[in-house]
Amino acid sequence: MIGKIDHVGLAVRSIEEARRFWEALGLRVTEIEEVPAEGVRVAMIPCGESRIELLEPTGEDSPVARFLERRGEGIHHVCLGSDDVAADDGALRRAGYEVLRPEPTAGAGGSKVQFVHPRSAHGVLVELSEPGSWEAE
Ligand code: CO
Repeated sequence: MIGKIDHVGLAVRSIEEARRFWEALGLRVTEIEEVPAEGVRVAMIPCGESRIELLEPTGEDSPVARFLERRGEGIHHVCLGSDDVAADDGALRRAGYEVLRPEPTAGAGGSKVQFVHPRSAHGVLVELSEPGSWEAE
């Protein structure tokens, strides 16, 4: 089941530069983590009940690097919190929507995530994320 908007993911060229804007508003980066499987460094900035996620590519073949090349910096995805990503993933597949991965995989902060193709979500890359200390197999 889907709950709140967990975070909004923003593609940036440099976390060190981009974080200054959010810090000028009084927000704080609470963690920076590298997610090698995604080719990104991720900075999390709590904002009320939700978060801003800054995504900086770690290599030129990173999907976020390709996004920056095509579209420049900006909104990359919207993430919905889920208490059961496998169930929500299954419901979308049964309804004919296109997800990006054969099954949910490990995301930042030990979360379990799936992505919905923008073709299936009217132009928005949607991430579904189940929090917790889930380990990749
Ligand atoms: Co995200």
